[in-house]
Amino acid sequence: MGHKCKKHFSCLEVVLMVLLVLMTIISLTLLVLLFIPKKHYTTGKDSKLLNAQIPSDAESKNYLIGVGRADCTGPVAEVPLMGYANPDQVARGILSRLYSRAFIVAEPDDSKRVVFVSADIGMVSQRLRLEVIKQLKSKYGELYRQDNVILSGTHTHSGPAGYFQYTIFLLTSKGLIKPSLNAIVNGIIKSIDIAHQSMTRGRLFINKGLVENSQINRSPYSYLQNPESERKRYSSNTDKEMVVLKMVDVNGKELGLISWFAIHPVSMNNTNLLVNSDNMGYASYLFEQEKNKGQLPGEGSFVAAFASSNLGDVSPNIKGPHCINTGESCDNPHSYCPIGGAKMCMSAGPGTDMIDSTKIIGQKIFVEAKKLFTLASQEITGPLHSAHQWVNMTNVKVQLNATYTGKTCKPALGYSFAAGTTDGVGILNFTQSSLEGDPFWETVHNQVLGKPSNKTEECHHPKPILLNTGEISLPYLWHPEIVDVQLFTIGSLAIAAVPGELTTMSGRRLREAIKSEFESHGTQGMNVVIAGLCNVYTHYITTYEEYQVQRYEAASTIYGPHTLSAYIQLFRGLAKAIATNTVQDLPRGPEPPFINVTTLTLLPGVPADVAPNSKKFGDVLQDVQPQYRMGQVAEATFVGANPRNSAENATHQTFLTVEKYENISGNWHVMYNDASWDTRFYWTKGLFCRSTAKVEWHIPNTTEPGLYRIQYFGHYKVQRILKLAQFHSFKGTSSVFEVIKF
Ligand SMILES: *[C@@H]1O[C@H](CO)[C@@H](O)[C@H](O)[C@H]1NC(C)=O
Ligand SMILES: *[C@@H]1O[C@H](CO)[C@@H](O)[C@H](O)[C@H]1NC(C)=O
Ligand SMILES: *[C@@H]1O[C@H](CO)[C@@H](O)[C@H](O)[C@H]1NC(C)=O
Ligand SMILES: *[C@@H]1O[C@H](CO)[C@@H](O)[C@H](O)[C@H]1NC(C)=O
Ligand SMILES: *[C@@H]1O[C@H](CO)[C@@H](O)[C@H](O)[C@H]1NC(C)=O
Ligand SMILES: *[C@@H]1O[C@H](CO)[C@@H](O)[C@H](O)[C@H]1NC(C)=O
Ligand SMILES: *[C@@H]1O[C@H](CO)[C@@H](O)[C@H](O)[C@H]1NC(C)=O
Repeated sequence: MGHKCKKHFSCLEVVLMVLLVLMTIISLTLLVLLFIPKKHYTTGKDSKLLNAQIPSDAESKNYLIGVGRADCTGPVAEVPLMGYANPDQVARGILSRLYSRAFIVAEPDDSKRVVFVSADIGMVSQRLRLEVIKQLKSKYGELYRQDNVILSGTHTHSGPAGYFQYTIFLLTSKGLIKPSLNAIVNGIIKSIDIAHQSMTRGRLFINKGLVENSQINRSPYSYLQNPESERKRYSSNTDKEMVVLKMVDVNGKELGLISWFAIHPVSMNNTNLLVNSDNMGYASYLFEQEKNKGQLPGEGSFVAAFASSNLGDVSPNIKGPHCINTGESCDNPHSYCPIGGAKMCMSAGPGTDMIDSTKIIGQKIFVEAKKLFTLASQEITGPLHSAHQWVNMTNVKVQLNATYTGKTCKPALGYSFAAGTTDGVGILNFTQSSLEGDPFWETVHNQVLGKPSNKTEECHHPKPILLNTGEISLPYLWHPEIVDVQLFTIGSLAIAAVPGELTTMSGRRLREAIKSEFESHGTQGMNVVIAGLCNVYTHYITTYEEYQVQRYEAASTIYGPHTLSAYIQLFRGLAKAIATNTVQDLPRGPEPPFINVTTLTLLPGVPADVAPNSKKFGDVLQDVQPQYRMGQVAEATFVGANPRNSAENATHQTFLTVEKYENISGNWHVMYNDASWDTRFYWTKGLFCRSTAKVEWHIPNTTEPGLYRIQYFGHYKVQRILKLAQFHSFKGTSSVFEVIKF
């Protein structure tokens, strides 16, 4: 009995002890919760902001706004450029740096946040997005997520390729190029970090205006297929409207802007080999240089993003299509020249060469944006919302009208895809607007990729299928099946993140559908903008009518004739969920795959660099002249090393500087870097692992006369047998030269 009792007693003791311990833990936890400020990244509250004095009534209505910019250039040599799919277009240097620009807006009480990122890249790929979201999760927990982060590409065709996981893009990128991918992932994350750290109370203003004489429709014949009654409602076959979102802090200090405008950044054509951000990037550069006075390009707190929109059929090459052999116009349904066929039909920009054209178009975009920014007075207020879904785009059932349904298809590219466009013709002799296959290519195709199933052929009708990408998966899926659809609202501004390139009329239909969906739920007057090239790349989206004539954009509408109708239905769904406050009930959809791409890349490795006998890396091979007039080009050539060595070096900032001698201090002052549009860096590979680097400075008329020098910065690689490669930084310096007035 005593024994039992003792045992019983000890049980009670244990229970009491456990209770005591539990109570201690609970009270300690309570103490911790009460007295230690919550970590902002797990709670969604910024501790700095919480500690600030309680905002006044006016302040408490202001958003929290953060802006950030970070480099995402990546390797500038030997890597294919993304956009034209031209195998000869392999990077050989840099004209301007590429940046990721991030904007965070939070509710006044920081209960909700949205992040918009615009990066100077061809497009956002699914692989890129998956990696960014994964890193954001490990860094910020649940603060920045799948649903409240939009990633958009400007669509420059002069950025490094290689950050894709689907086979079709691996083929044109020489595989998966980790340095390209890492540079973009790191740049995006860093820009978000900077925006996150810079969050401050501020206000948003919206403004809209027209940009004239900067675009043409490059498939006017397709546009004409749209119903006349619909076309009559618009004065132009491109959208000339630019939308600007201006951000200022509570004291009126300018923080940044996002501009959305529909234009292809293809002022630089498919012969360009210098990495750069094209016309939209040039507009960003001009705006940031103006607002960050006295700072080098890429520096300063003001951030200006020029983001893409419904640019699918919009070209900046406003001289229009001409036969390059005979000079006559080839503005016809097939973009076809009497002599030489489609390969001869090209459009050029307004300038003397492609860089000049880039600057002319970029300048026009900048000037309008600056006007709209300066005059913006319509304030954006009201709650934030974000809605996101993953959708299997290969089998979306679309309710076309009360009686008819349609279906999207497994992805496939038509013949006209291979024709390219008048902004960059294809490498083979294909012609746009082809409704019939070609027996030769049909045979090649059927042998190599397998004949498309009857179902897929019927589904894509009238598209003759050239690449049956939806029914092959060797070595990996060729095209995405799962895509992101995503919508933000910031007060009366709605941002629709579209995973591809909408044509002009497709964009108009989608904007209108979203606006009317909001209206049907009692939310009037939404300003809907299309953000292009977001989240995952799925080529083009034309209207059903444009699809019927199968020019390039239609042949590249990979999910078939009802692709646009499907997106309209899906985005209506997102708008409805936001308007009716039922976002939490939206099905999340099937998660996209993270493909373990292991196939060998075709990009050659970097061999150890070699300097010529009795020379060192950075030695001057061809020096500057003693004197230049403004408007001339100062140039120097150095013993070089592969620029790919520098791409992954965290401390590497620029391949070049142009420096001015300051008489008073006796110091050299950096005036330009490689982000400047007045400098160019060319790398030329020689024999036996030798190479040269040439730096050019196109001396602007506004330069201060004085003494200057050029410097070159690089890293050379040393590889000893059985040892890890080593990278050594070096620099080269030109002689001093004088710049005088003309
Ligand atoms: C392309 O085809 C057209 C006619 O179809 C022909 O005139 C032209 O010579 C061809 N060009 C090449 C490079 O084969
Ligand atoms: C690209 O532009 C350059 C001028 O910068 C021009 O010489 C060349 O012919 C153009 N090439 C194509 C394919 O448009
Ligand atoms: C998408 O749908 C197609 C057709 O129903 C199906 O074959 C495919 O497995 C789906 N893909 C994924 C990733 O769920
Ligand atoms: C419904 O759509 C089909 C297919 O586009 C079309 O043929 C038909 O005329 C439409 N019906 C109505 C009532 O609009
Ligand atoms: C596919 O279509 C062709 C021609 O229209 C026909 O001969 C063939 O039997 C069809 N195949 C299947 C599996 O239905
Ligand atoms: C990727 O594939 C390779 C080779 O098939 C394998 O060794 C590796 O573990 C895979 N990685 C992941 C993350 O699945
Ligand atoms: C610079 O000035 C020269 C001489 O006045 C002129 O010919 C040239 O067009 C100017 N360049 C620019 C870019 O303004």
